[in-house]
Amino acid sequence: MKPDFVIIAVDGGAASGKSSTSRLVAERLNLMHVDTGSHYRAVTFALLQKGVGPDDEAAVAERLKSIPLSTELDGRSARIALDGRVPTKDELRSEAVNNAVSPYAAVPAVRQFLFDYQRAQADIARENNFTGLIMEGRDIGSVIFPDATLRVFLEADAATRAERRAAEGQSDSIEKRDKIDSSRKTAPLTCPDGAYKIDNSNLTLEEVVEEIANAVSNCV
Ligand code: CDP
Ligand code: CDP
Repeated sequence: MKPDFVIIAVDGGAASGKSSTSRLVAERLNLMHVDTGSHYRAVTFALLQKGVGPDDEAAVAERLKSIPLSTELDGRSARIALDGRVPTKDELRSEAVNNAVSPYAAVPAVRQFLFDYQRAQADIARENNFTGLIMEGRDIGSVIFPDATLRVFLEADAATRAERRAAEGQSDSIEKRDKIDSSRKTAPLTCPDGAYKIDNSNLTLEEVVEEIANAVSNCV
């Protein structure tokens, strides 16, 4: 039976193509797009501002209580707002946040804090009459939506990923982040069993989008 609401989970390492691919799939299939990396970046930005380090889990948990989260729709993209304000791209992608985000994302209290918020994005997509939701991150197919219609795992070789980030003019230690993300105890970056794996090192964005759209149509 055709599901009336489609959920696509996209996971992969840094600069593996998650955001650009997910945005295009969202357009093609009328899905709401959620970049959960921006959630971890937003929380990191807030905690850095409050001067609470990732090593002090009790203080992090306490501080999180004073960060009200909401969602603002920007076309098909759902943006996280902290205390009613969507952080700017420069705030989320600063070098300080790039360096600190993986240590904060390894703190169980931070992941717990975002779990309900991320699951609830499906309700927002339904309320706004999208055909479904495409959510990208590191643990979407393994933890947040293990019941997704389709789970995709994107890969690209290290040299290609470093070139892509450099071409965007960003200073980002992607290998270091991948190492922390893959080795943490809670919700590590991993390709979940049964996920549809795509190595896109030598594929254009359009080719990857086509492959995902075909895979979805085989699932529904
Ligand atoms: O854009 P890029 O792939 O470089 O990173 P991102 O998706 O913006 O994610 C930033 C960081 O957030 C990652 O390196 C992870 O530490 C964390 N993250 C996570 O732990 N779980 C997710 N579902 C998404 C991001
Ligand atoms: O979200 P994530 O960090 O996984 O990667 P992204 O920001 O979507 O992609 C990083 C860069 O690689 C972007 O500039 C994309 O346009 C580019 N890219 C590409 O050239 N070919 C692909 N098949 C996928 C991404």
